[in-house]
Amino acid sequence: MLEDRFGRRFYYLRLSVTDICNFRCSYCLPEGYSATDEAPHLTSEEAARVIRAFAALGTEKVRLTGGEPSLRADLPEIIAGAKSTPGIRRVAVTSNGYKLPKVIDSWQDAGLDQLNISIDSLQRDEFARITGHDCLPRVLAGVDRALVLGIATKINAVLLCDGAERRLRDFLCWLRDKPVTLRFIELMRTGDNRAFFASNHLSGAAIEGRLIADGWHLLPRARDAGPAREYGHPDYRGRIGLITPYSKDFCQSCNRLRVSAQGRLHLCLFAEQGLDLREEIRRGDIAQLAEKIRALVLGKASSHYLQQERVGATRNLAMLGG
Ligand code: 5AD
Ligand code: SF4
Repeated sequence: MLEDRFGRRFYYLRLSVTDICNFRCSYCLPEGYSATDEAPHLTSEEAARVIRAFAALGTEKVRLTGGEPSLRADLPEIIAGAKSTPGIRRVAVTSNGYKLPKVIDSWQDAGLDQLNISIDSLQRDEFARITGHDCLPRVLAGVDRALVLGIATKINAVLLCDGAERRLRDFLCWLRDKPVTLRFIELMRTGDNRAFFASNHLSGAAIEGRLIADGWHLLPRARDAGPAREYGHPDYRGRIGLITPYSKDFCQSCNRLRVSAQGRLHLCLFAEQGLDLREEIRRGDIAQLAEKIRALVLGKASSHYLQQERVGATRNLAMLGG
């Protein structure tokens, strides 16, 4: 089993399949995408090799991220490659959803188990303002289709202070009848968003306190689960999760590793640099690739340094899929 010096085990791989994104989220890529890593993207076969090596080390779950993964026409092949890897039990995709109604059936046919879609606001004009794309109705139609297909679906919403109360009310209303998990993610400071962070960061604690007061109760956490604390309520079909990377001990339960679209291993979202695996990936010797990963993981630090305002090499989360 893949384990670091602090006894953390890595059941969960986040593999970015492209750093390109078509959205311009105000906290991530306000000016739109521009290339930061000129190295070529992994092919679908190379992505499959990475997944095989991690599976050989005990990884059970793969999430395909971006940038925006649906910008790759061969995403269904990558999903299928992950799903057919012995040892991989769950395959997930994180997407901005802009193509969702068109592509979700093909993702399911390829073997998708779980879907995360980013929706920061349920008001169409606000959604368009935040993302630069007026496509909320399409994203919501895609979510409904995913639910019809029986795909476990989570919604990510970044917490932003301006209008937070109203957005919470909108989401609560929506969750009464939607069997999805909505996760509020605290805004993280990255290399590019310092000023935005300073004026928009909102702590999740206030929302969590309010949910508890309203009768929401904490649900148990699965071992390959993300870092969210999830709450349920008898009157709601949906659930609510909180992801609070600035909370004390957030990193203690870390169970994930990241590989960039260019084949670099990132031991933390906020690591100083990615560790190049491309040579081993290209050679295709899975045992050797796995051995390299096992050795590199011993260098994983105990925690990020976000509290000290150190953000490593991460200019924005599109580089690495959050
Ligand atoms: N802070 C918090 N969440 C972010 N995301 C992108 N950038 C940031 C940031 N700076 C979110 C996206 C998406 C998920 C993958 O990461 O909105 O839901
Ligand atoms: Fe928005 Fe995600 Fe694209 Fe960044 S990568 S601009 S958060 S959709």
